[in-house]
Amino acid sequence: MKKFLVIGNPIMHSLSPKLHNHWFKRNDINAVYEKKLLESKDLPDLFKKIKNNEIDGINITTPFKNEVLPFLDEMSMEATKTKSVNTVYLDDNKIIGHNTDIAGFELALRSIKYDVSKKKVVILGAGGVSPSIIFALENMGCTDISLINRTKVKAEEIKKIFTKIKICDWGQPLPSFDVLINATSIGLKGEKINLNLDFKGPDKLLYDVIYNPSETPFIKTGIENGNKVENGKMMFIYQAHQSFVIWNKLMPKIDEETIKIVK
Ligand code: ATR
Repeated sequence: MKKFLVIGNPIMHSLSPKLHNHWFKRNDINAVYEKKLLESKDLPDLFKKIKNNEIDGINITTPFKNEVLPFLDEMSMEATKTKSVNTVYLDDNKIIGHNTDIAGFELALRSIKYDVSKKKVVILGAGGVSPSIIFALENMGCTDISLINRTKVKAEEIKKIFTKIKICDWGQPLPSFDVLINATSIGLKGEKINLNLDFKGPDKLLYDVIYNPSETPFIKTGIENGNKVENGKMMFIYQAHQSFVIWNKLMPKIDEETIKIVK
């Protein structure tokens, strides 16, 4: 039986096992996908198991997306640029790291037929997921990206990789935008972002990377203001889908039943 894992800390909230096990069952694949709470000191042993073929693939979530880099033999171009790895597999005895968050975000925007190429985008947060979002936006032709983070130096670090982005100060009025993305962790426990996010009208899209809870205060603000809103559910499903395809060389269906799994 093949074995897959998602590692993180915390990990309880992860819906990856539900999604992957659903696809295994649907496609008659003899495999199991579990979640594992890890600490940094557990990483060497985990990667030994991957090298020994005891584990067939892992997904990586916060806070290890960057920390796993030294354990890899090779990285995809996307993982190299973002320094963020969420998918690991063994190929020809080499441990490969890839980033499917990028394609996840891109496919999520494409799935709502949103053309971001001539739009102004403001991103709140310079954590683990932000480089992947910027990569995807630039890939889709977006040239006007502003990044705002409470700890400014972290945004400046990201600007070293994506040199065309603008950095603004947290707490100042937001620059004008068409798309506002919450890439912070604020809202996971129902918290509100302490910025003025009141911008009326259906021509603005408020996108929250958080999918659980499905309606954060950020999303609620967007609804109240008549904005278009989108949570991270489809991004989550598409990144999982991309990992699944890499590991199993098979494209599982994304249908209503799949989407319902991610509440
Ligand atoms: P993850 O790996 O999930 O992205 P992270 O790397 O710790 O987690 O990033 C969390 C993001 O949410 C960061 O941008 C963080 O801002 P700081 O870099 O200033 O810590 C942001 N964030 C979390 N709580 C916040 C708060 N109360 N106010 C402002 N930003 C916050």
